[in-house]
Amino acid sequence: MKRTVWISIIVVSIALTLWGCGKKEGKTQDNQAKWTIGMSQCNLGEPWRGQMNADIKKAAESHAELKVVFKDAQNDTLKQRSQMEEFISAGVDVIIISPKEAAPLTPVVAQAYQKGIPVIVLDRRVLGDQYTCFIGADNKKIGKAAGKWIAETLGGKGKVVELKGLMTSTPGQDRHTGFREGIKGTDVEVIFEADMKWLEPNARKEMESALARFDKIDLVYAHNDPGAHGAYLAAMAVGREKGIKFVGIDALAQEGQVYVKQGVLAASFEYPTGGKEAIDVALKILNGQEVQKEITLSSRVFTKADLVQNDKSLP
Ligand code: FRU
Repeated sequence: MKRTVWISIIVVSIALTLWGCGKKEGKTQDNQAKWTIGMSQCNLGEPWRGQMNADIKKAAESHAELKVVFKDAQNDTLKQRSQMEEFISAGVDVIIISPKEAAPLTPVVAQAYQKGIPVIVLDRRVLGDQYTCFIGADNKKIGKAAGKWIAETLGGKGKVVELKGLMTSTPGQDRHTGFREGIKGTDVEVIFEADMKWLEPNARKEMESALARFDKIDLVYAHNDPGAHGAYLAAMAVGREKGIKFVGIDALAQEGQVYVKQGVLAASFEYPTGGKEAIDVALKILNGQEVQKEITLSSRVFTKADLVQNDKSLP
């Protein structure tokens, strides 16, 4: 080949390489992302988690400068920790984490934060303040509203089963303490409580034990809709579902709200995923804007009547 041809090839190669590097520096061409967000999801077993990922994906889709890498820890804290370490060593620009449990995932979140990677904690908390921003609804408030609603619905008196979410996760703890506050001073009595760890099959099993032990159960308060549904199935299997009310939390349009419309659940309290808000906050951080340390999302109750008529946001 002639010398001039070789020179042209070399010049073109250098130009292409420089263009490639330039993209990382900020120029977004041909839909190339400028920033990578690592999303660490604790599990994808419940529809609510799928919805959170879908909300994140949808919000990010309209921003060509963002690329979101999703990792699913499959309900395994150690796996979630190592997936977080992978994000840290890959040097992603922002991390979003919805941690399975608070205490064991606190150090890895702090590690990312101290290395200068902004961390947005979604829905379940970690301990301390070594993160950039927490986004989630107020679970204590939801639990308390559920307690008050239940006391009112039962006329101030009744026998209740409480099926708790994972008690090493903050929504489980807060939905429990909030609920106990909500029924305080009434004659609503919790006759059976168990940690079903957010999982429908566990809730069903625990409810089988409750049904075997107690002839009279007025209501089941489950910390999420899969739990309430599992309890309903256990009651149905022994023909007792009509005599018991079931209350859950999440109220997804495709899950809890459908159960309420069908009369399976008497009520479900909305628990927004915060997926869209997490992308809004990530964009602010990436664009050098200040963000709040804490963003509280609102909730509302869904009953059959509410689904047909009015909007009832929690006060
Ligand atoms: C899904 C889930 C939801 C619940 C949330 C609490 O894994 O159990 O049903 O509202 O997590 O963090």
